[in-house]
Amino acid sequence: MTRTPLIAGNWKMNLTYIEAQALLEDLVENLKEAGHKADAVEVAVLPPFVDIRTVQTVLDGSGSGIAFGGQDISEHESGAYTGEVSGTMLKALGATYAAVGHSERRQYHGETEQVTNAKVKAALANELSPILCVGEPLEERKAGKHVEYTLAQVEGGLEGLSAEEVKKVVIAYEPVWAIGTGEVATSEDAQEVCHEIRDLLATKFGDEVADAVRVLYGGSVKSSSIVDLMQQADVDGALVGGASLKADEFAKIATYN
Ligand code: G3P
Repeated sequence: MTRTPLIAGNWKMNLTYIEAQALLEDLVENLKEAGHKADAVEVAVLPPFVDIRTVQTVLDGSGSGIAFGGQDISEHESGAYTGEVSGTMLKALGATYAAVGHSERRQYHGETEQVTNAKVKAALANELSPILCVGEPLEERKAGKHVEYTLAQVEGGLEGLSAEEVKKVVIAYEPVWAIGTGEVATSEDAQEVCHEIRDLLATKFGDEVADAVRVLYGGSVKSSSIVDLMQQADVDGALVGGASLKADEFAKIATYN
């Protein structure tokens, strides 16, 4: 089973719609100049919600094949949930992905495993592909418990899903200690956990599912580290934060060969 690599840029809480338009236009141009083919490496951007319409407008007719999605999603379909954005709204805008369970949502907003699981289901219910973010804090890694900690998050996020549903999920292993710190995990660290995640998928859902699911690495990815990461058997791409805010750097990451 060949899995199409996915390089996704998480813009987090950055860029007004004017800055988003300029960044994306530059990215489209950089990728074209680099000869990027969307069927060889899928590229996606996760803009702030207020920029999604701008992103959609720039991408329409660009021929870039760049996908987009939400950085989060409400677990609710609609109603009195001030400040939240539903999967229905994202889908209506042409979104492909919805990140769920990002460590910054878990840490700053107290998002529980149960809520993350409900968000995975809400994304699937709206024909969005969830990007389930998992990964350990530094103290778990220092204690040698990084694998069990991360696998518990994977199991929590996928609770109650059928094998066919799990096939639609992307999993992003993002060790918290590597996010925004400039301290990228070694490719061996990334491979170890991504392999354990794929093993868990095989055990719980079968080899076909394990072979189909893309497992990404995230945490201080740069153009200087992406080549080694992509040479790992169980790393299928990257979820990139800071480096995705620079069109030339993100294009280098996306065209890592
Ligand atoms: O979601 C990706 C993000 O958490 C990684 O951020 O800045 O370490 O690449 P960064």
